Amino acid sequence: MGQPQVSIILPTYNESQNILRILHSIEKSIPDAISAQTIVVDDNSPDGTGRIVEEYLRNMIGTVGYTVEIIHRRAKTSLGSAILHGIQHARGDTIIVMDSDFSHPPNIIPKLIEALRTRCDIVVASRYIRGGKIDGWPVKRKIISRFGTIIAKNVLNIKAADPMSGFFAFRKNLLEGIIFDGLGFKILMEILVKVQGARIVEIPYTFQDRERGDSKLNGNVIKEYCKSIWRLYRYGGAEPSRSVRFISKAARFYTVGTSGFLINYVISLLLTQQIPEFWYLHANILGIASAMSSNYILNKIWTFQDRDFSPRRILTQFAKFVGFSSLGAAVQLGIVFSLVEGGWSYPASLSIGVLTAALGNYMLNKKLTFKEKLWG
Ligand code: GDD
Ligand code: MN
Repeated sequence: MGQPQVSIILPTYNESQNILRILHSIEKSIPDAISAQTIVVDDNSPDGTGRIVEEYLRNMIGTVGYTVEIIHRRAKTSLGSAILHGIQHARGDTIIVMDSDFSHPPNIIPKLIEALRTRCDIVVASRYIRGGKIDGWPVKRKIISRFGTIIAKNVLNIKAADPMSGFFAFRKNLLEGIIFDGLGFKILMEILVKVQGARIVEIPYTFQDRERGDSKLNGNVIKEYCKSIWRLYRYGGAEPSRSVRFISKAARFYTVGTSGFLINYVISLLLTQQIPEFWYLHANILGIASAMSSNYILNKIWTFQDRDFSPRRILTQFAKFVGFSSLGAAVQLGIVFSLVEGGWSYPASLSIGVLTAALGNYMLNKKLTFKEKLWG
């Protein structure tokens, strides 16, 4: 056969119970007019998946315009690196990546090819758009997946609804000049971040949990996922998204708050211990005042990076800062009081009171004292 048009990358690890059936199903799903190759990338599966494919290839009665090949890798590293390995060997100009355990229905392959031909650069088979869904996953796995998706979209500014999908297709030349980490499972996420300006289309499908064999997703894969989010976040110094800015500033704001708490405590205590004639309430007032001042200055310089140091500005800002902080304390008292009187337990009321006051404090100061957008 000459050059195939489409290369299907099929990573396998211990898929002896699925591999032959999936190969068969893929072969049936490829449109007659299209020449294709399937590249199995096996990581020396202990259950003999690689040998089963070899055996199958020896007896395969060739269909015109379709071939199957296998790459044997010496050991299991990661799904991502297996997929990249397959892509490097692919001869088609269109690449399709899918699982070998029937979670990804081969019968939507024609739709993927069609979308690439006519209207996009990357097509994602998606569980998270209208018409897509997941069958057979326990709630826990669904939550992990949703949570990971939210993080990917917000931290990495990805627009696709299902950036964690393992079922996708693209034109091979799209990857020219890009260097991949190939960490863990999430090769699509990496492509979506590193390929600039690609047109993306999503096609809904039903993810069917495997019936045979076991998932290879484990704690390590989740760890790799976090690593890859971090690396991709720093990749190219992308402008942080609004939610990342909001949260990182909140982290600084509360770090400053904690430092104020320490300053308050240490000053109030030291004054009375070092100077016996110092009245403890005076010491306490000085402690509070020092903490408020240092909180204000640190938040101005570090948290919100406000560079306007005109006396007028400092005076009004400081007044607002003190005002909102006291308001926070009053609100907290009010909430705790009314909840406890309304029959709630004290610990629960206290949590709600503290959280509301802390959040309100941050948002009011962000918006009104330091004149920033609330979200961002
Ligand atoms: N060669 C190779 N090496 N193949 C692997 C490896 C590996 O280290 N790890 C997994 N595979 C193969 C499996 O044999 C299977 O064909 C496919 O990759 C997916 O692995 P599963 O273990 O079945 O993954 P899953 O079903 O838990 O996760 C699926 O859903 C995720 C969406 O949340 C996959 O489609 C993921 O890619 C997808 O992100
Ligand atoms: Mn699976």
